Amino acid sequence: MEYNNTDSAVLANSRSQWAIAAAWGAGWFAFSMVYHDLWRNKPYSWLTANECLAIASVMSMCFALAAGPLFRFGWVGEYVRRLRRPMGIVSFVLAILHVLVAIIPMWSEFGLKWMVRHPLSIILAIVATAHLGILARISWPSAHKAMGYARWKSWQRTAWIAFAASLAHFLVLGKEAKWVEWFEKRPTPAPTFTLWLTLTGAAVLALRAADWRARLGGRDPKEHAGKAPGGSASG
Ligand code: HEM
Repeated sequence: MEYNNTDSAVLANSRSQWAIAAAWGAGWFAFSMVYHDLWRNKPYSWLTANECLAIASVMSMCFALAAGPLFRFGWVGEYVRRLRRPMGIVSFVLAILHVLVAIIPMWSEFGLKWMVRHPLSIILAIVATAHLGILARISWPSAHKAMGYARWKSWQRTAWIAFAASLAHFLVLGKEAKWVEWFEKRPTPAPTFTLWLTLTGAAVLALRAADWRARLGGRDPKEHAGKAPGGSASG
């Protein structure tokens, strides 16, 4: 099967796009490390690094999921839309690093005992990691070719499942109690970062819901669902 220009919008990226996605992930990791040190009273440590890898992964996923709807609403251009794929892959790599840090240097803290005490969080984490892994694997042209456009596209459309599972994975740990505590007592200059993650995640899900509604209503100026293969991925 030959690839046309729009397929390459989905499956090919320039070096600058990979560099931007890597810088976005690394930037959120660095910023959240400094945030924890300066305003959360959490010095540099494996524990903080573990949290910050997770934060950077979720922020990269937010970008990957928001780029499609923002493009269709006419708020960003083609270049930004093409960042979806590298952002999704960077998010997956950061999630794997988060898992590795949780199970290797942090095993004594987050080992089997922790997992048994938080079964729902772990199930959601496994669902999110597996789903992200599948999407990263099929984001290569060979998979696109083997699966056929329609199947490939319907898989890519399910990216929000991995995203929702990632958000739920930390929300079920009772993070909201820490937000309330912060607003009541202000023990540190800034609230826990999961508050910002949740607000950003909710905004991205709302954006995708608005995009979905617009498409159902036929108000999709730039892309049309199911228009294959030139229609580009809907992710
Ligand atoms: C099997 C896979 C995974 C394991 C074993 C795992 C493990 C953990 C552990 C042990 C924590 C710390 C909980 C605490 O601070 O009380 C955590 C928090 C978190 N995880 Fe995961 N995780 C996994 C997958 C993921 C994935 C795929 C994502 C999203 C991309 C993710 C995002 C987060 C976030 C955002 C936090 C909260 C960080 C914070 O407190 O600032 N995790 N995870």
